[in-house]
Amino acid sequence: MTTTEHLDQHVAVDPAILYFGTPVLLLSSANEDGTTNLMPMSSVFWLGRSAVLGIGARSQTALNLKRCPELVMNLASPANVAHVDRLALTTGRPDVSPWKARAGYVHAPDKFAVAGLTPLESATVRPHRVAECLVHLEAVVRETRPLGARAGEDDAAARQLAVEAEVTRVWVDPAIRLAGHADRIDPDLWRPLVLSFQRFYGLGPQVHPSRLAGIDEDRYREPRTAS
Ligand SMILES: Cc1cc2nc3c(=O)[nH]c(=O)nc-3n(C[C@H](O)[C@H](O)[C@H](O)COP(=O)(O)O)c2cc1C
Repeated sequence: MTTTEHLDQHVAVDPAILYFGTPVLLLSSANEDGTTNLMPMSSVFWLGRSAVLGIGARSQTALNLKRCPELVMNLASPANVAHVDRLALTTGRPDVSPWKARAGYVHAPDKFAVAGLTPLESATVRPHRVAECLVHLEAVVRETRPLGARAGEDDAAARQLAVEAEVTRVWVDPAIRLAGHADRIDPDLWRPLVLSFQRFYGLGPQVHPSRLAGIDEDRYREPRTAS
């Protein structure tokens, strides 16, 4: 027995989903008739000004982004959870797929009405923002790639897409701004809604001092060199 063996009580498992906790968004995209579709989603991360989103290829959102590569990421907090949950099991597609129909999904052409949310005009993109969310990130699609496709498979057959988007405008409610700074968010005040597996959670208080936080946030604006 090695000295570390007693630490390894892990068992190998095969979960159907690997949703270990990510923030929930309402993603706005433009329908063909110019109205805005809203999709609850949570497969997302940000690096610099870029966002990478995992989106079902057969969703109304995927069709909309192909036609009009503009979006808004409306970040949900726990106060928005009832609205988000009302949009679960809905799709903007009139031809609900057999898988979704069996799971209980229904067609909802007006997601703002279904959720009881209020649209706001955006500044740099066509889809509307969601007034009730504290953070709106307007963005344009830069690249879309198939996700999870196997070697030899046709890209067009991919069930999921990785959508890379560049943020073009950031709106925040003054309630979450860091006092004394024009362009900062106070992480003690911003509380994202988190999806863990299929359930909703909030975020607790900070759990440990952060060495990373010793880097002044504005340094992330500096261009990176190779060295
Ligand atoms: C909280 C939550 C998170 C979700 N996350 C994602 C996701 O990250 N990617 C995805 O493709 N679908 C996700 N879904 C499912 C979509 O909302 C669903 O496919 C929806 O029908 C898409 O809407 P649309 O067809 O109108 O675009 C999520 C649903 C909920 C309720």
